[in-house]
Amino acid sequence: MWRGVHLVMQGEATAGDLLVFINYLKTAYRPTRQLAKHMAMISKATASGERIVDLLDVVPDIRDTRGAIEAPPFQGAVSFQNVCFGYEPNKLILKNLSFDIQPGERVALVGPSGGGKSTLVSLLLRLYDPVDGQILIDDGDLRDYKLASLRRQMSIVLQDSILFGVSIRDNIAYGALGATQQEIEAAARLANAHDFIMALPDGYDTLLGERGATLSGGQRQRIAIARAAVRRAPIVILDEPTVGLDNENEQAVTEALRRLTRNCTTFLITHDLRAAIDADRILYVEKGRILERGTHEELLHLGQRYAALYQMQAAIGINGATVSDIPNFSTLN
Ligand SMILES: Nc1ncnc2c1ncn2[C@@H]1O[C@H](COP(=O)(O)OP(=O)(O)OP(=O)(O)O)[C@@H](O)[C@H]1O
Ligand SMILES: [Mg+2]
Repeated sequence: MWRGVHLVMQGEATAGDLLVFINYLKTAYRPTRQLAKHMAMISKATASGERIVDLLDVVPDIRDTRGAIEAPPFQGAVSFQNVCFGYEPNKLILKNLSFDIQPGERVALVGPSGGGKSTLVSLLLRLYDPVDGQILIDDGDLRDYKLASLRRQMSIVLQDSILFGVSIRDNIAYGALGATQQEIEAAARLANAHDFIMALPDGYDTLLGERGATLSGGQRQRIAIARAAVRRAPIVILDEPTVGLDNENEQAVTEALRRLTRNCTTFLITHDLRAAIDADRILYVEKGRILERGTHEELLHLGQRYAALYQMQAAIGINGATVSDIPNFSTLN
């Protein structure tokens, strides 16, 4: 501008020349600025693209073994035989676990945090393979079955279930692709969810997520149970499914879980020993070993860790029992 004004004043250019020049400059400037912006976007996209390619190249550790067969419909017997496992090579998390579960049995896994309960069920889902020993379902090694046919026969409900930003119907149907409307509704009824879903303005078409309906913790959990129910799997895994719910919601969810797990082989991980009382079998897992096993009564009579934990929860009033309910309690040594 300064140079241009100078030239005009010296008579070397006209005011018109200057105006036209400035106009051209402006016209040329905008695309240049946009190009710079696009260059930044392009380099970001290139970096993301590289990561996507890397991810696509990752070969999962767990895949179908050569000669893997379609799993037959399971009865639900589960057997761990001297199973050892560690996430890192030199640090075993599960040490020589063995147990046999009959079809339809309800098993509670209890014990201190970090003991290996979640790790144990992730081996059953074949998220990892044991370092040593083997896991059998109905006398067949997990590794002999195709992963998809194995996992199709297990349902899971976790402490905090993931729901997607789609309709409630699709969230439930995700458990078994191709489920019919009747099957979805039956699953929702079983999960104690049908009534609250129908009370929502769009019913089963209600969109979940940020822009759709936001559900309470207990409602989310019941959708997750409906999703598990629609699978009709013979093996059900529950990892602390009622943690963090208020009393009323906890009751609704507990009732739904009871219906979900009827006639299924069930693994229930819980810190609240009330939930373990009516299990057919309780496994007390600590530091990767099963230290105690038996029914609630048997473990109370044993008077060891489980009994101590139960007494402690009773003392602080978690499970509504009192210390005098516990026979033969002896302190731990
Ligand atoms: N993905 C992982 N990689 C490495 N170590 C892990 C991994 N997951 C768990 N661990 C370790 O394995 C051990 C057992 O963990 P796990 O989650 O099985 O315990 P848990 O009994 O389920 O505990 P909680 O009751 O707190 O859920 C812990 O020491 C934990 O730090
Ligand atoms: Mg856990």
